[in-house]
Amino acid sequence: MKKLNIALVGLGFGGSFLPIYLDHPQVDFVGIYDPNKALCRQAAEKYPSVRIYETFEDVLTDDTLDAVHLVSPIPAHADQTVAVLESGKHCACTVPMATSLEDIARITNAVRTSGKKYMMMETTLYTYQFFYVKQMQKEGRLGKIQFLRGSHYQDMVNWPDYWLGLPPMWYGTHAIAPMTVLSGSRIQSVHCFGSGTMDESLHKQYNNPYPVECAIFSFENGLKAEATRSLFETARVYQEGLFVYGSNACFEWGFADNDKPYVTTSSPAKPGERGSISHVEQIELPNYHQTLPESIQKYTINPQHFDPLNPQDSLKKGSGGGHHGSHPHLVHEFVMSILEDRKPAIDEVLAANITAAGICAHESAMRNGEAVTIPVF
Ligand SMILES: NC(=O)c1ccc[n+]([C@@H]2O[C@H](COP(=O)([O-])OP(=O)(O)OC[C@H]3O[C@@H](n4cnc5c(N)ncnc54)[C@H](O)[C@@H]3O)[C@@H](O)[C@H]2O)c1
Repeated sequence: MKKLNIALVGLGFGGSFLPIYLDHPQVDFVGIYDPNKALCRQAAEKYPSVRIYETFEDVLTDDTLDAVHLVSPIPAHADQTVAVLESGKHCACTVPMATSLEDIARITNAVRTSGKKYMMMETTLYTYQFFYVKQMQKEGRLGKIQFLRGSHYQDMVNWPDYWLGLPPMWYGTHAIAPMTVLSGSRIQSVHCFGSGTMDESLHKQYNNPYPVECAIFSFENGLKAEATRSLFETARVYQEGLFVYGSNACFEWGFADNDKPYVTTSSPAKPGERGSISHVEQIELPNYHQTLPESIQKYTINPQHFDPLNPQDSLKKGSGGGHHGSHPHLVHEFVMSILEDRKPAIDEVLAANITAAGICAHESAMRNGEAVTIPVF
């Protein structure tokens, strides 16, 4: 099988993907670009085989590159994605895909006219927790899904400038994505309310008055789902939570992000007794490393703690790899979608629905909860 040449753009959070690409058996060459030259030098010292690009333009004009993975600041995503696709390269981009419906349309058009792959690198779709829920769904253990909830609580004080005052639902993808995939449907419309107040200085950049937004999404198949997102002045422990309510079983995220989740099952009511009987269990999650090439399985866990003979035990030590083990799965899916010439699992259509649902949710919040229809991309 051919091996790929890939460039990684943006080495903040993006830096955690560098060793994974370098260790992927189907990747030959890895290049890096970040306007912060010190970060590039540090990376090249640690991984001497990488090549540093001096400018983003140099990445675009290098015809030996097959693909580019963007992990740049949010305001750069749309223009850089379109530029990468138009330069004839496959493009992976971190979340969110974009922050306007117009930019989502520009990206979906560029995917279609270029014929190249686009993948939104949504970490929540490759976590141990999400793998477990998908397994419950596949095995029929959930029964009918009756309702879904997602949460993402995070405090962005002292983060880079572009974060300050960001409408919470513009970065709603971690709360919205898992619900969308589990629904087996497409988000059609949203009602959303903004809540709370925050310092006036945070209103300026995006004309957003809300530190918290709470949305109800309607899916084409009739399901409903709720997502809550907080970004500022809200003293809640970090959580990227998923809550699934099925007719036979429910899955609920632990209180804090790394707590063990709860699974509730029910047995039929006894004759004459009111209500069925519930059983609740806090579960130890398995690792889902087996689907990955051996050389990158260690990144599902903090690599220093990975015991290849016993990956489950490594996970129990609480040393989960980046974003609940998701990073190597994202890399592998992007690489294999190119080599197998198929759509990546989070293609432009799914990414557009998830991202646009958040953009429309904020629009609804600004119109005091009015229904907003999510365009089809
Ligand atoms: N779970 C997740 O999926 C997850 C987690 C964290 C961050 N993110 C996303 O990753 C991105 C980066 O996050 P971060 O915390 O590293 O952000 P950051 O702003 O701290 O750092 C981004 C990096 O990109 C570099 N950069 C700045 N301008 C650039 C440009 N025009 N082109 C290329 N690189 C540029 C900066 O020098 C910096 O090293 C954001 O878009 C964020 O939304 C996703």
